Amino acid sequence: MEPRTFPQDRTCPHQPPEGYRAVTEDGPISRLKLWDGREVWAITGHAEARRLLVDSRLSTDRRNPAFPVTSAAAASIRNRLTPPLVGVDDPVHKVQRGMLIPSFTHRRINSLRPHIQEIAERVLDAVVEKGAPAELVGAFAQPLPSMVMCHLLGVPYDDHDFFEERTTRMLSGQNPAESWGELRAYMLDLVGENQHRLGEGLFGDLVAAPDGKVDRGDLVDLAMVILAAGHETTASMLSLGIFTLLRHPERLAEVRADPSLWPAVVEELLRYLSITDGFTRVATADIEIADITIRKDDGIIFLTSVINRDEDVRERPDSLDWHRATQNHIAFGFGIHQCLGQNLARVILRIALHSLFERLPDLRLAAAPEDVPFKPGIAIQGMIELPVTW
Ligand code: HEM
Repeated sequence: MEPRTFPQDRTCPHQPPEGYRAVTEDGPISRLKLWDGREVWAITGHAEARRLLVDSRLSTDRRNPAFPVTSAAAASIRNRLTPPLVGVDDPVHKVQRGMLIPSFTHRRINSLRPHIQEIAERVLDAVVEKGAPAELVGAFAQPLPSMVMCHLLGVPYDDHDFFEERTTRMLSGQNPAESWGELRAYMLDLVGENQHRLGEGLFGDLVAAPDGKVDRGDLVDLAMVILAAGHETTASMLSLGIFTLLRHPERLAEVRADPSLWPAVVEELLRYLSITDGFTRVATADIEIADITIRKDDGIIFLTSVINRDEDVRERPDSLDWHRATQNHIAFGFGIHQCLGQNLARVILRIALHSLFERLPDLRLAAAPEDVPFKPGIAIQGMIELPVTW
């Protein structure tokens, strides 16, 4: 059979691409072709994905020449793609992650709740004041996580306009290199000359770490990865989550009638939308799995959108159901690289969605659903614009 290709665009923003569904027919592990003609393994089975993601013979090191590159754009910056954490294997990964864990405990994240609620109210005040119609990616989904990131890192409040503007520009692709440079320079200054201005937060924790002696540049690189990993993902989950809820009014009515359902709604939306669709690894040794041998240097892609809809794991995976246990989805990954910010993401999403639908009970799309633009397959899945009225 002709190998299938990666990436593919979704035809509906809240459904996996039809081509990925077709790949599942070949079994839990099959072949896909990349843009440069290279063939890689596509993982679509839930059990196989979880087995492989905890296997230390899989590497995330982008400097490995055999690491699969999923677009021409990524190939052109390949030599600069050595992000800490996400692009590093153990044992170095473990040391880096260990430095950050104190900033992401349940206790720390819970202590941020009042601030996140305050931020959500402030962003919604501005939306309401401007009045209907509104465009919710720019007015809600992007600024809210950006403000939370500012707070998480400990960026002084006086600088939040500068910080949020650069973050949004960098992550929405408007002049990303320039914004990246400006943010990096700003952060270097903040953890160096301007340490006395640091608020409570991750930067302060790292600067004060007793055995830390962390190089200023390394510290800033870690913060940049957290920013890149945490902002666009959360903003995309918000925009696509709102769109999906508006497209399922009967499901939305259930949670409006019983707001205690919001945590379950967020979990089910994470599974159903699987916005990081297709993360990559390279094999560093031969691996036998499901009657297949993955060879050393083979590339591997995890097609999360179909893994999270594996019928062996849950019934009716294509329907949204707030009343089922959804915990074992892999929307946050699995194994040593499982999302460090997942507890924070959950809190932001619960507070933001609950506040939005409570504040604007008549919220509805201001365009035909098929005319609302969403991101292409290679990107983190989400809406480009979200026109609404109330
Ligand atoms: C809904 C929002 C989010 C989604 C869907 C998401 C998804 C993911 C996924 C799938 C991975 C694993 C990728 C892989 O194994 O290759 C990951 C890793 C990571 N995420 Fe998230 N993420 C979200 C929010 C956040 C937030 C809010 C933060 C931080 C503030 C964050 C920080 C990170 C970091 C640092 C890693 C790398 C962890 C490591 O390599 O050890 N994420 N995320």
